[in-house]
Amino acid sequence: MPHADTSLVPDSIKTKSEFWTHVHDQLEILMGGQRHWVSNLSNAASLIYNSLQAFPSNFGDGERSVNWCGFYLISSLFPQPRFTDASMDPESQTRASTNMLLGPFSGRPACQWIEVSPRPRGVCGDAFVKRSTVLVLDVLTYPGHIACDGDTKSEIVCPLILRKGGEDIVVGVLDLDCLAIGGFDADDQVGLERIAALIIRSCDW
Ligand code: SME
Repeated sequence: MPHADTSLVPDSIKTKSEFWTHVHDQLEILMGGQRHWVSNLSNAASLIYNSLQAFPSNFGDGERSVNWCGFYLISSLFPQPRFTDASMDPESQTRASTNMLLGPFSGRPACQWIEVSPRPRGVCGDAFVKRSTVLVLDVLTYPGHIACDGDTKSEIVCPLILRKGGEDIVVGVLDLDCLAIGGFDADDQVGLERIAALIIRSCDW
């Protein structure tokens, strides 16, 4: 099967629960045992985003479309330059240690840095610090929401939690935005948390 076809959604899939199981299984096939997070998160963002566009019963029509799907990650995960001078000024060093950085995504351009300490910012910062999914039915009512796209009406952010040596390490978040108020619900939360767990165990961090 061509790789792009993994984002097609068969007509037999009717419920959100069936949809997320389908996306989960397609992502597992797509990653195929290759464990680099850059490649896997790139395909995950594209697969989720394009599968949602292809699921008309819930997300596919224009007004209810999901308009962004992507990742913010702790900046220490990012590859260091190999061929150019990597020296950072003190201000950039501080920002890198207190913020998540934009990772692979599908959708329109978004903010690059999201602060997590000393004070978390936005839905993403809150999900990171709370270590639990944050579901926002109406972003206008959410204190501190970061409006990367003024058209976004609702949002869900799911942390990526790595369990290592008895400790939970949050390596980043998976963020989805929707053009409709109340675009996401508990079924989406269950489906995305399962996908987040798949991503965590399928990559080297
Ligand atoms: N709205 C997010 C910021 C990221 S964008 O949605 C892509 C937040 O409040 O954290």
